[in-house]
Amino acid sequence: MTPADYKATLSFTNGAKSLDLPVYKGTIGPDVVDIRKLYNETGVFTYDPGFMSTAACNSTITYIDGDKGELLYRGYPIEQLAQNCDFLETAYLLLNGELPTTPQLKEFDHTVMHHTMVHEQMQFFYRGFRRDAHPMAVLVGVVGALSSFYHDSLDINDPHHREVSAIRLIAKLPTLVAMAHKYNVGQPFIYPRNDLSYSANFMHMMFATPAEPYKTNDVLVRALDRILILHADHEQNASTSTVRLAGSSGANPFACIAAGIACLWGPAHGGANEAALNMLYDIQKHGGVEKIGEFITKVKDKNSSVKLMGFGHRVYKNYDPRAKLMRETCHEVLGELGLHDDPLFKLAMALEKIALEDDYFVSRKLYPNVDFYSGIVQKALGIPVSLFTGIFALARTVGWIAQWNEMISDPEQKIGRPRQLFVGSPVRDVVPIAKRSA
Ligand code: SDX
Repeated sequence: MTPADYKATLSFTNGAKSLDLPVYKGTIGPDVVDIRKLYNETGVFTYDPGFMSTAACNSTITYIDGDKGELLYRGYPIEQLAQNCDFLETAYLLLNGELPTTPQLKEFDHTVMHHTMVHEQMQFFYRGFRRDAHPMAVLVGVVGALSSFYHDSLDINDPHHREVSAIRLIAKLPTLVAMAHKYNVGQPFIYPRNDLSYSANFMHMMFATPAEPYKTNDVLVRALDRILILHADHEQNASTSTVRLAGSSGANPFACIAAGIACLWGPAHGGANEAALNMLYDIQKHGGVEKIGEFITKVKDKNSSVKLMGFGHRVYKNYDPRAKLMRETCHEVLGELGLHDDPLFKLAMALEKIALEDDYFVSRKLYPNVDFYSGIVQKALGIPVSLFTGIFALARTVGWIAQWNEMISDPEQKIGRPRQLFVGSPVRDVVPIAKRSA
């Protein structure tokens, strides 16, 4: 780290010695107080459940400003990347720190698109699952299993091994996600096609069948590509922190990404797009727009566990810039498909309008996040609801790898091992069971 920009003094009212702590400034964003020597010098820990005020690392990859609703990948605003780049171009940026030139992108694209096949044995992992297994359960399993096929690239301290593993994961996740879908619907797996673009290949593996030719729709492919760009990385969110923590133990990249997939599955995180669409279905089933008021009342009721899925964010206390872009994509896709009057989209817009005017949400700074509209777009693309988070995982794999790489290459990195505030029983003696009273 660079030398301290200034100091913070921690003083105690119990007579303990005060402590000066270095404070560092980043390029942009909040300064950080370096507390690494706190425990050794004072015998106390900091306490921050959920890490609301904790910077776990320094990073050059993604920056978000929750108040401005700003998201930058390597300094580039997400709006400009979504407008001017495709997903592999964005992936190159996240992995390498700079946008590629035409020859660089051509080479990267060719490398990724020539690693899209998985070992033929992989299909037998799928056969062990029930046909109705949730795709995220399958992906946690098969992505972790990938490490059993690649003993040639598991040395995490070898930059070449890390690069090979990165390409394999980025290239094979679409194949594995599409296979999970085909397995669910009982159709044959469709092999990847290297002559197609990354997103067109994914749509092909998802919707083609051996029975007839399948032609991708460029507008829909572009919409999917934008969904992948918007979900590619997002600073130190729960699943990225999971990947970093798993990686800090020296676990191989396939195991780390499998851990990230497991964390992303949660409805408070990547599972929110599936939960948001199911919420809209539920409101629609119980009367649609007329019933929104009743639903909002339930959300406000502290005794109910009902949340407005797709709303709220730990960092964005203004608009999630991705939600705005996702809403635009919604319009484009529904327009292309002649679904202007899609009842779910109308319901979503009505719900958003009501929520943005309701003091409960405004006072808690609860705005639509990326997951609120992404489900509607994916449903319009023909993607089953249960696969939404799998596609989120496909996109976020690039961000997870970039963050994992940065962590491994950081000279300051150590195994992550937080401590605790212990509030359990002090030491006590075991009473043999024969002497224990009921
Ligand atoms: C993602 O971190 C990332 O960057 C994640 C992500 C990424 O790209 O990696 O952006 C992807 O996970 C987006 C978020 C998707 N999750 C959802 O849409 C699920 C619904 N949202 C909530 O679960 C919640 O908003 C969180 C988990 C997203 C954020 O929770 P926080 O910051 O811990 O806020 P909180 O739970 O402390 O809530 C503050 C208040 C509480 O009310 P009070 O106790 O103050 O009365 O707001 C309320 C909460 O009850 N609240 C909600 C709500 N979210 C928070 N009330 C109703 N509906 C909601 N969605």
